[in-house]
Amino acid sequence: MLEQRFRLESRARRLRKKESLRRMLRETRLHEDMLVAPVFVKEGTKKVEAIEGMPGVYRYSIDELQGYLERLARVGVRSILLFGVPDEKDDQGSGAYAREGLVPRAIEAVRPNFPELVVMADVCLCEYTSHGHCGLLTGQEVDNDRTLPLLARAAVEYARAGADVVAPSAMMDGQVLAIRRALQEAGLDDTIVMGYSAKHASAFYKPFRNAAGSAPAFGDRRSYQMQPGNFREAMREIELDVKEGADIVMVKPALAYLDVISGARRKFDLPLAAYNVSGEYSMVKAAALNGWLDEKSAVYEILVGIRRAGADMIITYFAEDAARWLKEGW
Ligand code: PBG
Repeated sequence: MLEQRFRLESRARRLRKKESLRRMLRETRLHEDMLVAPVFVKEGTKKVEAIEGMPGVYRYSIDELQGYLERLARVGVRSILLFGVPDEKDDQGSGAYAREGLVPRAIEAVRPNFPELVVMADVCLCEYTSHGHCGLLTGQEVDNDRTLPLLARAAVEYARAGADVVAPSAMMDGQVLAIRRALQEAGLDDTIVMGYSAKHASAFYKPFRNAAGSAPAFGDRRSYQMQPGNFREAMREIELDVKEGADIVMVKPALAYLDVISGARRKFDLPLAAYNVSGEYSMVKAAALNGWLDEKSAVYEILVGIRRAGADMIITYFAEDAARWLKEGW
């Protein structure tokens, strides 16, 4: 009856009529405050090196880092995740935890000029080991427990140099606890620990390994990184990091793992980071450079999707462009 008189049809399109309405009714918003830019730092001076497979991303020598951070600051990116790409590697990955290592020197160099910048430092051995694995080897095995003290030493060096956040990505059991204890012993109780809690063995890390020269010389990382099909195990990994004292937890990669992000959001109340990894960047870049995708709208959809799934912060190689597009009114 009513239906006949008033034609009460459902008209979902009413709410989509014009841009101002669509903006008002947007459920999920992006803001540059939630973006973290990964940064590759290398030895030498006056070096800005292009990275194969990651157009628009560069390795910077410490002196060149300043200019890049100023550019990031100008568009409102207030947070970086640092990776060291050393000239020399050895089987112990000693560059990762050297007092005068690349990452501590980079942090010390930029800290005075960027006091407000949130400096995060990745803690892992793979960029520093000649064999490219994330920990020490005993025979052909990646040795969990012998690796822990080295990760802890690296974290303490980065924190001492001025990192706000240390982020263990080696997927060694107990790495968060080992780092938390070492920080405490060093009197660095204020340092934030962000666990790469649910880090999956992924094909999407390939461009990064190219950037960091960290591809494993033999085998792969499947004995320490998670297999892609496991959701419940991801929750368990995150829970372990929470118990070990992580302040922020992470799901990585992002796009094939949106359900894991969403599950983690529901189950845990800690800040949740998602890592929109190198291969996820490269795919979009390659398609955009061929004219097959419109980059700006594809990136919006990807980042808002990760946010909608429940991430509080997004680590992304698109950070600078995304922040600029946000300012322009994405
Ligand atoms: C180090 C590390 C990796 C990434 C972040 N930290 C590589 C890996 O695990 O092989 C990947 C990041 C990316 O692909 O953007 N262990």
